[in-house]
Amino acid sequence: MSDQPLVLGIETSCDETGVGLVRGTTLVGESLASSVDEHARFGGVVPEVASRAHLDAMVPTLQRACASAGVRLADVDAIAVTAGPGLAGALLVGVAAAKALALSLGVPVYGVNHLAAHVAVDQLQHGPLPEPTMALLVSGGHSSLLLVPDVTADVRPLGATIDDAAGEAFDKVARVLGLPFPGGPHVDRAAADGEVVIDFPRGLTSGRDLERHRYDFSFSGLKTAVARWVEAREAAGEPVPVADVAASFQEAVVDVLTRKALLACRENGVDHLVIGGGVAANSRLRALAQRRCDDAGVTLRVPRPALCTDNGAMVAALGAELVSRGRLPSDLGLPADSSMPVTEVTA
Ligand code: KG4
Ligand code: ZN
Repeated sequence: MSDQPLVLGIETSCDETGVGLVRGTTLVGESLASSVDEHARFGGVVPEVASRAHLDAMVPTLQRACASAGVRLADVDAIAVTAGPGLAGALLVGVAAAKALALSLGVPVYGVNHLAAHVAVDQLQHGPLPEPTMALLVSGGHSSLLLVPDVTADVRPLGATIDDAAGEAFDKVARVLGLPFPGGPHVDRAAADGEVVIDFPRGLTSGRDLERHRYDFSFSGLKTAVARWVEAREAAGEPVPVADVAASFQEAVVDVLTRKALLACRENGVDHLVIGGGVAANSRLRALAQRRCDDAGVTLRVPRPALCTDNGAMVAALGAELVSRGRLPSDLGLPADSSMPVTEVTA
C-alpha cells in the first residue's frame, strides 16, 4: 500500500474546511473544521463568514490531518483541491493553499470538481467504482442525478433540481417547524416519532412534468405545501403535529429521489447506484433506497455519513484516482470556478 502515491485533498467549497490523505483507495488520515455554528443564527451559510473561517482553519486542519496519518507534508506526492462549484471566496482559500503547497513541495496539483469528488469518495469504503455507476447527489447545495462511466473523465448530468436543493428543502421545512439549522438531522429525528399521514405533493413525477423533467427534481412546491399546511393549523388554533409533518415531508422527498434514481438506472441499463451528499445521511432515504434497489436488482452503495457530507477525504479520493489513471495535473494558474460545470472533472 505504501508504494502508492500519497495524495492530499483540500475541500473549502462551502462551510467545511476539510483535509484528507489517501493512497489508492485507502483513507490514511483526515481532519475537518466546520463553521456551521457561525451560520446557524442566520439560517443559512453566509459566504463572507465561511471564507474567513476557512482562512483561520486551513493551516491547523492541514497539520491535524498529517498528524492523524502519521505523515509529514514532505511525504505528499500530489495535491488535489476542490476548484468548484461552490462559494467563490471559500473556494479561493483552498485553491490558494493548494497552489502554495504544490509549489513549495514541488508536486503536481489537481483542481477537481466537487460533485465528482462526492462520487469518488465511495471508493474509500466500497472499493473501485463499477463503470458505469449511477450517482444521486443530494445536499444543501445540490441535487443531481449523474451517469458516471468514468469518475476521472466522463460524468454526465441526467437531471438536477429546477429550484431548491433537497437539503435546502429540509432546512427550510425545519425552520417552519421551529427546528434548528441545519434542519436535515432534526427533521430526520423528529420523523422517527411520527407517521406519514399527510399526502404532500411529489414534484415532477407525473404527466407532462415527468415527460419534460424525467430526471429533474423540484422541492419548492413541496416546501410551500408544508408551510401552508402548518399555517392553516396555526390559524385554526390547533397544535402542529411536528413529528407527523416531518415524517410526511421526508417521505415525499425520499420517495421522489429514490423513484427517479431507479428510473434512471433502469432506463440507462445501470445496476449500481451511489448516493452521496449530506442528505444521504437521512435514515429514511437509506432504508427506502435499499428496499427499492433490492427490488430492482440494483446494488446500492452509500458511504458512511461522515464521508457523505463535505470533507477532504472525498477530494483526496478523486485525486488519487486521477493520479493512478495517469491523468494530467492542472496548471498552477488554475482558477476557482464557482459555477464549474459537472461535466468538467478537472480544472
Ligand atoms: O453535503 P453537505 O454537508 O453540504 C452541502 O450542502 O454541500 O450537506 C448539508 C445538507 C444540509 O442541508 C442538511 O440539512 C442535510 O445535508 N442533512 C440531512 C441530514 N443530515 C444532513 N438531510 C436530511 N436528513 C439528514 N439526516
Ligand atoms: Zn457537497
